Amino acid sequence: MLAIGAVIGAGIFSSIGTAAAGEILPSGEVIRLGAGPALILSFVLLGVVCGLAALCYAELAAMIPQAGSAYAYSYATLGELVAWIIGWDLILEYAVGNVAVAIAWSGYLTSLLSGFGISFPDWLTHGYRTALFSSDPAVHGLLQTAPRIFGIPILLNLPAFAIVMAITCLLYRGVRESARANNIMVVVKLLVLALFVGVGAFHINPENYKPFAPNGWAGIHQGAAIIFFAYIGFDAISTAAEETKNPQRNMPIGILGGLAICTLIYVVVGAVATGIVPYTQLKAADPLSRALELAHLPSASWIVAFGAVVSLTAVLLVFQYGQPRILFAMARDGLLPRWAAKVHPRFRTPHITTVVTGLFVGVGALYFDENEIYDLTNIGTLAAFAIVCVGVLVLRYSDPERKRPFRVRALPVVAIAGALACLYTMKGLPVTAWQRFGVWLALGLGLYFAYGFRHSTLRRGAPPEPVQPPPSIVP
Ligand code: ALA
Repeated sequence: MLAIGAVIGAGIFSSIGTAAAGEILPSGEVIRLGAGPALILSFVLLGVVCGLAALCYAELAAMIPQAGSAYAYSYATLGELVAWIIGWDLILEYAVGNVAVAIAWSGYLTSLLSGFGISFPDWLTHGYRTALFSSDPAVHGLLQTAPRIFGIPILLNLPAFAIVMAITCLLYRGVRESARANNIMVVVKLLVLALFVGVGAFHINPENYKPFAPNGWAGIHQGAAIIFFAYIGFDAISTAAEETKNPQRNMPIGILGGLAICTLIYVVVGAVATGIVPYTQLKAADPLSRALELAHLPSASWIVAFGAVVSLTAVLLVFQYGQPRILFAMARDGLLPRWAAKVHPRFRTPHITTVVTGLFVGVGALYFDENEIYDLTNIGTLAAFAIVCVGVLVLRYSDPERKRPFRVRALPVVAIAGALACLYTMKGLPVTAWQRFGVWLALGLGLYFAYGFRHSTLRRGAPPEPVQPPPSIVP
C-alpha cells in the first residue's frame, strides 16, 4: 500500500502518452522515439531496474536508526559531499517532479470540467513552453492567438499553479498523511485504473497493436526513459525498513512484491491504452481520458478524469510534503542557510521551506512543458539511485562493522547491475536533459563550495545537533 500510494500518478496517467507516441517538435526535430504498444516491455524492464535500486536503497535506509530521506542516510554514511549531491538531485525528484504532476493534474481537471460544459480559455491552461513544443497545431497556435503584453504571448497554466498554492497553504498549517488516508487513496487509484481496464478491454482493436514496436529497441529504451517517472516514489517503501518486522525477510517481499504489482498494473493499463486507439493518438496531457473519449465512452472518460485528479492531488501532497523536510535537513546540517531550518512557532511545520518549495513548483508549473520536466526529474532521480547503489557497496567494505538490519544478498552483483541499469536508462533521455542536468549539478556544486562547505556543522566542528528525523513521507 505504501509503495502504490506514492508511486501511481502522473507517470501512468500522463507521461504514458509521450512514451508511447514519442515526441516531435513543430520544427520536425525528433526529440524521442515512441515505444508504441511495446511500451509494455519498457514497463517490465523498469520493474527490474527499480527492483535492483530499491534493494540497495533499503539496505542503506535500514542502517540509519531514523526515518528519513536518501539525503539523511547518505549524510550519516557516505559523507557530506555525496549527501549534498544526492540532496540536490532529490530536488529534481521531489520539487521539479511535482511541476510535471501539477501540469498533468491541470490536464485532467480541464478534461473533467469540460464534461460539465465548463471550459477555461486555452491560454490560461497551457504554459508557454507547452505551446512552444507541442506538435498539436491547436496548442502550438496559441503562441500566435494568445493575448499579448509588450508583444509577449501570455500563456499560463493557472490550474496547475492554483493546486500547488492550495496544497502549500494546507502544508503550511500542517497536515499528517495517515496510513488510513493513504489506503483510501490507493483504493481510489486502483478503482479508476480498474475501470479504465474493465471498460477499455471491450473496445480493443487488435489492429492497433500493429506494428507492435514501431521504433524497435530504441523506442522501447527511450519510452522507458520517460515512463520511469511512473516508478518514482518507490524509494518511499525502503524508508520504512526501520519500522518493518523481520526486515531481512519482509523488505524484499515488500519491495519486489510492490514493484511486481505496480508493473503488472502498468502493463495492463498500457496494453489497453494502446489497444483502444492508435498509439499516436495518446499524445495528450490526459491520455487515458482521451483514449476513452476517442472510443466514444464519455462517461468512463469522465470518471477516469475524476480519479486522476484525486490521485494526482495525493501525489502532489506527498512530494510537496517531502521536499521542505529535505531542505530543512540540509539547512540543519549547515549546507543551506540557517533560516531555512526554522520551524513555525505555532504550527510546528518547516514553514519557510514549505513556502519556498510552493513558489518554486507553482511558478514552474505556470510556465514549463510537462515532458521536459519528466526528463529532468528522471535523470536526477536515476543519478541518485545509481549513487546509492555504488555507495552501499562501498560501505560494505569501508564500514563492515556497522549494524545492517537488512542486508542485500549478493550485493556486489545487485549493486553493480543496479547502477549500470540506472545509467543505461538515463542514456535513453534526450540530449537536452543531459545538458540541463549538467547545469543543475554545476549549480549545486557551485553552491556547495560557495556556501555549504564553509558553513557545514560537520566541518565547523560544531557538535552535531540531536538528529531530528525528517518526518517520513507516510508515517
Ligand atoms: N510516480 C509518481 C507519478 O507518477 C511520481 O506521479
